[in-house]
Amino acid sequence: MNPVTYATIDLPAIQHNLSRVRDYAPEAQIMTVIKADGYGHGLLSVAKALITADALAVARIDEAIRLRKAGFKQRLAVLEGFINREELDAFILYDLDAVVHCVEQVALLENKNGLHSLSLWLKLDSGMNRLGFKATEFATIFQRLTACVVANINFMTHLANADDESDPKTLEQISLFTKTVKPFKGACSIANSAGIFAWKSSLSDWVRPGLMLYGISPFEEKTGQQLGLKPVMQLYSHLVSIKELQKGEAVGYGGTWVADKTMRLGIIAIGYGDGYPRHAKAGTPVLVNGQRVPLIGRVSMDTLAVDLSFQSHAKVYDLVTLWGDGLAVEEIAVCAGTIAYTLVCGITSRVMKIEM
Ligand SMILES: Cc1ncc(COP(=O)(O)O)c(C=O)c1O
Repeated sequence: MNPVTYATIDLPAIQHNLSRVRDYAPEAQIMTVIKADGYGHGLLSVAKALITADALAVARIDEAIRLRKAGFKQRLAVLEGFINREELDAFILYDLDAVVHCVEQVALLENKNGLHSLSLWLKLDSGMNRLGFKATEFATIFQRLTACVVANINFMTHLANADDESDPKTLEQISLFTKTVKPFKGACSIANSAGIFAWKSSLSDWVRPGLMLYGISPFEEKTGQQLGLKPVMQLYSHLVSIKELQKGEAVGYGGTWVADKTMRLGIIAIGYGDGYPRHAKAGTPVLVNGQRVPLIGRVSMDTLAVDLSFQSHAKVYDLVTLWGDGLAVEEIAVCAGTIAYTLVCGITSRVMKIEM
């Protein structure tokens, strides 16, 4: 029996979305980004679906070790690299690719022997001002890493504005990266999901899709479905109470929503304690028995309310879809004033995830 509130994770949909990466970047190798617990979908489930990808990438070493201990043997990169000697030892022990983005990491490498099996990704900060070396220091850092005698040195950068197809910054970033790495030999990687869809010149040796694997569009003006993606997470709950409300009665904390007529109110067993966004505004769509009804009042920790006035047949224990097929998580994100990344990553541990 499924719990009252649960999410299903459609593994074939992940494989379908991976095939869309191949459609857009047929020449590139694919490093699938499954950090933050597979963008909230479940690290091991997602990795299982991506067994044909050329590499997996996570942000932190503990996620990588978890994958290795679970038996995943693919090339596995850690996007934040290592922060101390012990972590560097673990990179060698678990055969992990390390992203090198700061001078402290270079010093740790210089003070360690036996690096011949270690693969590095030297990261250029091409304008995002997050992780990476500036173009002016890149050559010196490359020489220092070469002297460390590692297995190979690859190059990467990350795009800051690729989801805006009219923003010239992306081409500037690509051009700076291309110019900076040109004198050196090594595989290159630039594109995230938005790069894969919108910026052909970002498709270098390796692409690094994250969001699109989960069926979600990186663009505000296009849905995943319009890009030929399939949603992976379906978030479900049930109606747990239905009551009649009189004109003038208020709903929820703060009484921010007041009935302007006699109406039918439904209470659904999901709230911000499950990861549903507290800031979803009144009118945010919810599917009750496959039909849209509007959210009303403030979202609580365990419940939210909907207007069932046009659902006279709805009854307690009916199934509710919060997002998934027929109700894109991107649409909910807009209603909550956020991005779909935060919604799927924010599903809490009390929501059971069921692999399909
Ligand atoms: C370094 C790096 N590469 C690739 C990705 C994947 O990006 P996206 O989920 O937008 O495809 C991320 C995600 O933020 C990242 O940090």
